[in-house]
Amino acid sequence: MDLESFSRQLDDLRQRALRAVADSADPRALTEVEGAFLGRRGELRTLLGGIGQLPGPDRPKVGALANPIREELEASIASRRERLEHIALEVRLARERVDATLPGRVLPRGSLHPLIETNREIARIFSQFGFVTYESPEVETDELNFELLNIPADHPSRDLWDTLYVAEPAGSTGADVEDADGHDPRLLLRTHTSPGQIRAMRESSPPLRVLVPGRCYRYEAVDASHGFEFFQLEGLQVDEGTTMAHLRGLLDEFAHAMFGSQTGTRFRPGYYPFTEPSVAFDISCLICGGTGCPACKRTGWLTILGAGMVHPVVLRNGGIDPERYQGFAFGMGIDRIAMLRHRIPDIRALMDNDLRFLERF
Ligand code: PHE
Repeated sequence: MDLESFSRQLDDLRQRALRAVADSADPRALTEVEGAFLGRRGELRTLLGGIGQLPGPDRPKVGALANPIREELEASIASRRERLEHIALEVRLARERVDATLPGRVLPRGSLHPLIETNREIARIFSQFGFVTYESPEVETDELNFELLNIPADHPSRDLWDTLYVAEPAGSTGADVEDADGHDPRLLLRTHTSPGQIRAMRESSPPLRVLVPGRCYRYEAVDASHGFEFFQLEGLQVDEGTTMAHLRGLLDEFAHAMFGSQTGTRFRPGYYPFTEPSVAFDISCLICGGTGCPACKRTGWLTILGAGMVHPVVLRNGGIDPERYQGFAFGMGIDRIAMLRHRIPDIRALMDNDLRFLERF
């Protein structure tokens, strides 16, 4: 070993090290290269460890040869490290870049069910005349659903409602039970919202203007216009001097607000045990405008609700003196109103929960 061959080895080391630095593709590889050449057990140390084999006078020159190379390698490693870190940052920034001009992800948005939306629209219109919503239970007693509304057990009109009963009293065998007061004690699903009239009258006092919306149930064969579960909305006003003219005026306003100011209206005689006199309220057919078509069975009219002056017996059952106060009541099918507004041909669509139908609203 002489100085010249030492110098050649040093140069060879330098060239391999520079190439390895340039070839290292990430900071970790670069650290390995650094260790392999400049580390404590690295090539440079090993080479320098051999200077004992050089002739004495040459030894001091070793440092002058090796130090610049060490410095050069250190500098090249440092600059390569900086470069690699810069590249890594660029890559990360490119990968994480947010393009604020891209269209956003569309979130599926819910909407109100047509029955709820129709109910709210009806309530909004009547609220302008001072009517407030009153909630009445779906599970009712026979007494409130029938008896107190002037529909005694043997009254033929009770056949109008085929009732769903929800509970039999313990030990009972069914239909012909009576409690001590002669009432049928069975609980049932209300067949109409009219029991809400009694509850509202008993809970407060005239002047009274309430709406009672909600589900009703009848034991009914289901078809395009009948459901065993449907929605009604009851209206009740009790005040001094209330007349049929107030009822007519209110319902006209409602029909015009709901179906348009061109809509024709009429009263027809009707019958309900809890109103006297009773009427059916018709609007001119929304499809043909009154000339007659299949939708209105060629009559030009569509019946949208039943109504009448509250029967004195019902007022008394509600704790109200019929000598002093009069009232009117009306009951409409929310399903029917929703079907007319949105031209829905089959009532079952309102209960099917089919998203293809519901997404239209
Ligand atoms: N309750 C009646 C029905 O279910 C509707 C109605 C309500 C009629 C109030 C008159 C007054 O058909």
